Amino acid sequence: MNTLRNKVCVITGAASGIGRATALLFAGEGAQVVAADINGVGAEETARRAMAAGGKAWAIAADLTDRAQAAAVVDGAMRRHGRIDVLHNNAGVVRLHETVEETPEDEWRWILETNLTSYFVLAKLAVPALRRGGGGVIINTASTAGLQASRDALAYAASKHGVVGLTRTLAVMLRTDGIRVNAVCPAGVDTPFLIPGPRLEERRRATGFLQPEEVALAVRHLALAENLTDALLMVQRVEGKAAYSLIEPWAAKPIALLE
Ligand SMILES: NC(=O)c1ccc[n+]([C@@H]2O[C@H](COP(=O)([O-])OP(=O)(O)OC[C@H]3O[C@@H](n4cnc5c(N)ncnc54)[C@H](O)[C@@H]3O)[C@@H](O)[C@H]2O)c1
Repeated sequence: MNTLRNKVCVITGAASGIGRATALLFAGEGAQVVAADINGVGAEETARRAMAAGGKAWAIAADLTDRAQAAAVVDGAMRRHGRIDVLHNNAGVVRLHETVEETPEDEWRWILETNLTSYFVLAKLAVPALRRGGGGVIINTASTAGLQASRDALAYAASKHGVVGLTRTLAVMLRTDGIRVNAVCPAGVDTPFLIPGPRLEERRRATGFLQPEEVALAVRHLALAENLTDALLMVQRVEGKAAYSLIEPWAAKPIALLE
């Protein structure tokens, strides 16, 4: 895939932040965007802005933790366009707690359902369409919290580590189908996702935050780079600018054997 022109791109979490920025970037390059979000009004607004800029976009309201609603996104894209070339799994939620004891179990399940299980279900539903079209690409939004410990986001970090595992294993499973699977791993991004508080202001002063448009460029790269599958692309803010680096997939090897 060397261009997004006329490619059918399903983008989740498209009502806001990274998803909206990716939808606008892709539509601006000629893609046919399917903008899915639990926030239908926000998804409509993304589609409206994409079309006002000369792009093509269609919005669908869907709670992606509900299998029937996830299926409606894939079926809707197929009915409208007859194919799917790109799936960007990006919807996400976060809650912060200082300790494991304070982390509610129902909230843990909700975060895992939204950030991880919905990515699996949507991939499962979309893969037959991608395969029928001769291949395609899945890009999952992970996070730097999927690569390292997080101070106060236990469920979130677990979900994003899961997204990395999902990405890497799907990449191997789908390699022979011509379906590439990659993940973008951003550090803090200036979106409504960030939870206000003194720690946020401390981070803003220390490193600042990425702009969603800078992350959208990484998603675009992962969509178009034909040689990339099983790739984890980290985006960080370094000296006031976005810095992009591919993470070398680590090999699990024993450091010492226990007797
Ligand atoms: N903002 C950051 O600092 C940051 C950093 C790294 C990774 N991320 C990840 O980027 C992705 C996008 O986040 P963002 O920063 O653009 O946040 P955002 O809050 O602006 O966008 C997230 C979108 O997901 C949607 N969503 C939530 N639950 C949903 C559900 N059940 N079904 C459908 N849609 C749902 C929301 O309505 C929202 O529009 C998330 O996966 C997040 O974990 C964000």
